[in-house]
Amino acid sequence: MNSDVQDSGSPFVGDPPLLKLERITKRYPGVLALDQVDFDLRPGEVHVLFGENGAGKSTIISIIAGALRPDAGRIEFRGRQIALASVHHARSLGISAVFQEFSLVPQLTVEQNLFLGAEETSWGRLNKSALHENAAEILKRLGFPLRPTQRVEYLSRAEQQMVEIAKAFRSDLSVLILDEPTASLTHRETEQLFALIEQVKAQGVGIVYITHRMSEIRHIGDRITVLRDGRYVATVDSETAEDELVRLMTGRVIDQIFPHISYRPGEAMLEVENLTTEDGTVTGVSMNVRRGEIVGLAGLVGCGKSEVARACFGLIPVSGGRTLFNGEETTGLPPRQMLDRGFFYVPPDRRGEGLLMMRSVRENIALPALSLPDFSRGSVLRRHAESARTAALAERLNLQPLRVEREVDHFSGGNQQKVLLAKSLTRDVELFVFDEPTVGVDVGTRAAIYEFIRDLCESGAAILLISSDLPEILHLTNRVYVMCRGSLAAELSGEEISQESVLRHCFERKAA
Ligand SMILES: Nc1ncnc2c1ncn2[C@@H]1O[C@H](COP(=O)(O)OP(=O)(O)OP(=O)(O)O)[C@@H](O)[C@H]1O
Ligand SMILES: [Mg+2]
Repeated sequence: MNSDVQDSGSPFVGDPPLLKLERITKRYPGVLALDQVDFDLRPGEVHVLFGENGAGKSTIISIIAGALRPDAGRIEFRGRQIALASVHHARSLGISAVFQEFSLVPQLTVEQNLFLGAEETSWGRLNKSALHENAAEILKRLGFPLRPTQRVEYLSRAEQQMVEIAKAFRSDLSVLILDEPTASLTHRETEQLFALIEQVKAQGVGIVYITHRMSEIRHIGDRITVLRDGRYVATVDSETAEDELVRLMTGRVIDQIFPHISYRPGEAMLEVENLTTEDGTVTGVSMNVRRGEIVGLAGLVGCGKSEVARACFGLIPVSGGRTLFNGEETTGLPPRQMLDRGFFYVPPDRRGEGLLMMRSVRENIALPALSLPDFSRGSVLRRHAESARTAALAERLNLQPLRVEREVDHFSGGNQQKVLLAKSLTRDVELFVFDEPTVGVDVGTRAAIYEFIRDLCESGAAILLISSDLPEILHLTNRVYVMCRGSLAAELSGEEISQESVLRHCFERKAA
């Protein structure tokens, strides 16, 4: 049963709910994803869905968005019972969703993607130039730095996320569903999105918002419904204390998300000298990462922070400067050779380049290690060693459910992220580069990942942490490089690392 929390101050108090879900049940083979869940959404509120990875959040919104049919239960929209036949049907009622996994067509442009599938709405009758204008207008309103004519395949994950968000805003809205929309966005884009949410709230739109970030719940949430293992736990207001939310979510108390880390910086593992990339994303960057320390790399979306690491790892061509790894020059070496030398890059985009979605967890984890003796001695023995190690790693990262033979595609978003991290642990690594390691990960798992990074650091590995999550940068690193438009804006260490200093340098380059 929903509790009767009042959202005082809303001009829509007393209006009937936009949506009312009663006793919704959804089964997957072997998994009861939702077990008689109740949920309601009022006009003009942001209703947060909160719960661990695999709790059933995405399943609920897929049902609301018409992408998934429930096995049992009823749904009311503006007081009338409905059966949503498709995403298209939901959208015709003004219910629009931004899903965790994107649905963009890479070969099409931003504007083509924006209006894809909108044929039946008024947009469909617009001619090309009107389409272009409308796309430009939506992007401008959202403040997203995208060109309507850019092809989506050339965009970063964050930019693709912006296109997904923009898609939801193309038509008239009653219900807006956002599944971790800020996962790859930085501070500025997030603020822009929040401003927009405030705008549509004022027009009476109801927003269902999924996030694992406490600060976002505080910032924009009105009510929070907590799910655990597919069951409804409680609905509370956004004033509810953080530890209480975590307790409702996990059934236990987690006292500390960020661990204490002892840094013992040793010799330099990675040295970058005046690095410039061929594609112009990085110009003249110099930095280093030593053993026994965690170095942060911060900056806005598109500032080139990922590209620095990708160039060092041989994923994008270098046109100037050099990189040294473990004292030897490695400029331009391919990823395979960097891996063999002990450089491991964990990419942010698990679908695009991190994981083979149709393969099992075991196969995915074992993949980077295939050339190593432990795994390649052949036949039955090898398979056995592989399974045992994979199971141990999966357990350590708290994979839910703990079934390593299951296809990665069948796991929830946060659990896919765990598989991606586990991949790095099957070989001897001297430098770990984590690019957005906790995107889409719940609080409990987040704490587990941080402990894991701490252990790596304290055992002498060098760690480069690339992150848009500011608390993560502030709490885990002993040195931070801030980038701005492809160049280094600042190097901060110890006491100098603060929210203000990092943010300030995100917007201004160092004077030449
Ligand atoms: N296509 C699928 N086939 C089988 N099981 C699935 C499928 N999609 C989801 N599940 C299972 O349903 C349950 C709920 O998953 P869901 O994706 O709704 O979780 P979530 O709360 O969104 O998690 P996260 O925070 O990780 O995104 C999980 O146990 C998951 O493994
Ligand atoms: Mg999900």
